[in-house]
Amino acid sequence: MTVLAGYASEHGSTEEIAQRIAARLSERGHAVDVRPLAEASRADDYEAAVLGSAVHGGSWLTEASDYVQANTAPLGRMPVWLFSVGLARVVGGWFEKHSQEPKEVTELRRTTHLREHRLLKGALSPEHLPLFGRVVYRIMGGHYGDFRDWAEVDDWAEAIASELSAAGASGTASV
Ligand SMILES: Cc1cc2nc3c(=O)[nH]c(=O)nc-3n(C[C@H](O)[C@H](O)[C@H](O)COP(=O)(O)O)c2cc1C
Repeated sequence: MTVLAGYASEHGSTEEIAQRIAARLSERGHAVDVRPLAEASRADDYEAAVLGSAVHGGSWLTEASDYVQANTAPLGRMPVWLFSVGLARVVGGWFEKHSQEPKEVTELRRTTHLREHRLLKGALSPEHLPLFGRVVYRIMGGHYGDFRDWAEVDDWAEAIASELSAAGASGTASV
């Protein structure tokens, strides 16, 4: 199946996750187009989509929101997997409890054949936050580093590849 692995990434960690997922899907024989969502062609060109964004202030980045809004109809006709990359699972506590699902994902749950949304652990450097953000983050007990869990990403990509193969074998993109 032809799959869009689309991403919105400000500092590169989400892009690398999308590339890793795309590599695993390719290894399993799927034709994957890995692209920034700001440059991706319309979703009509694909049979399935794995879309992800960095989370900023509890929401997806604008280019990811814009893409899913502009492509609601075609995305509604194919299997879709979503991932949000942030620090919620690293910081934990209240922040994690209230950061399970950006609103863009909730909306896509309503309008698409959403297979799964994964909240993945990302990366953060102090210089990525404004001074006020660093103060708030410190008060929340947050820390800096690269917390991406590549084993989790690989396992998830494998599961997606298997579902895509099953969907392809059944001859329908909308399962
Ligand atoms: C300005 C700013 C705001 C952020 N807001 C959130 C947030 O609300 N929730 C969250 O879980 N992570 C948040 N993060 C963390 C990152 O989005 C995250 O760690 C991610 O890996 C960054 O992805 P990127 O490298 O692809 O840009 C924020 C980061 C920045 C720089």
